[in-house]
Amino acid sequence: GSDSAELQEKTLVLVKPDAVQRRLVGDVIKRFERRGFKLVGMKLLQANHGILDKHYHQLRQKPFYPSLLAYMTSGPLVAMVWEGYNVVRSTRAMVGDTNSAEAKPGTIRGDFSMHVSRNVVHASDSVEMAHKEIGFWFHSDELVAWECSDRDYTY
Ligand code: PPS
Repeated sequence: GSDSAELQEKTLVLVKPDAVQRRLVGDVIKRFERRGFKLVGMKLLQANHGILDKHYHQLRQKPFYPSLLAYMTSGPLVAMVWEGYNVVRSTRAMVGDTNSAEAKPGTIRGDFSMHVSRNVVHASDSVEMAHKEIGFWFHSDELVAWECSDRDYTY
């Protein structure tokens, strides 16, 4: 029914190259796991301009776009898909404000990032964008549907 569709909402999270360099991948994953979200896709890869031009399509005219490209290609990143109830909005709350100075302590950026140009993670900002972005980074056969063994504790 509609309940199970809501529980299967998905979002894209990118653990950006600065976070991989700083060995923060585990810290980021841990936050989503303990919140109860389900990991349904994950890979380490070196991004190229082709995929970033799609992912950041709306930003290509921004003055910071060349430095954003340089940053996002500076080393490998980890792309992940997380699933669960209201996962898009919850993830945005967990990530914190884009402007690191405004990101509240307790959020990923509020705990780990000093500046927008090294802000540790990306998270989709709507269900529609999540669907698009997941398609840029993952083939459908790279997403894994699996059942949690104890639905009383976690979806
Ligand atoms: S905007 O201008 O309102 O569209 O920008 P915003 O929504 O705040 O941010 C969009 C993404 O651009 C990244 N960003 C930057 N990257 C590098 N350098 C600078 N100066 C910069 N400013 C914004 C910001 O982190 C957002 O990326 P994601 O990956 O979605 O967080």
